[in-house]
Amino acid sequence: AIERTLSIIKPDAVAKNVIGKIISRFETNGLKIVEAKMLTLSRELAEGFYAEHKGRPFFEDLVKFMTSGPVVVQVLEGENAIAKNRELMGATNPQEAAEGTIRADFADTIDANAVHGSDSPTSAEREVNYFFGG
Ligand code: CMP
Repeated sequence: AIERTLSIIKPDAVAKNVIGKIISRFETNGLKIVEAKMLTLSRELAEGFYAEHKGRPFFEDLVKFMTSGPVVVQVLEGENAIAKNRELMGATNPQEAAEGTIRADFADTIDANAVHGSDSPTSAEREVNYFFGG
């Protein structure tokens, strides 16, 4: 089915000047950018976005990192967009990401892991609405 999913190009990838290379991966793999914006997340916006991770040991570092510089937030649309985007990103930990994936090619650590992508239809709906709702 045609789905929509939320993608974030994180501060490490923006700082590395690889926004275009990452977006190119989406486009050449059949995903269309249907919404996009560049912004620096406030603590409040980052904490709300990652609310499900509140209380996890990595939460504070995650929020610090995600507010450390500009990000590009976009909605990707296409056939099986949610799973397709996760396949293109590779594993959360770049050390475990398959060859040729975005994280294998552009990420350094589990926090500075280049991209975020929604992990299910439920989170995709919430996350798209969080940044582009109303
Ligand atoms: P992301 O897909 O943006 O969702 C939560 C983020 O927390 C994740 O990518 C990682 O960058 C970061 N993170 C740090 N440590 C962990 C961990 N142990 N498990 C999952 N995510 C982690």
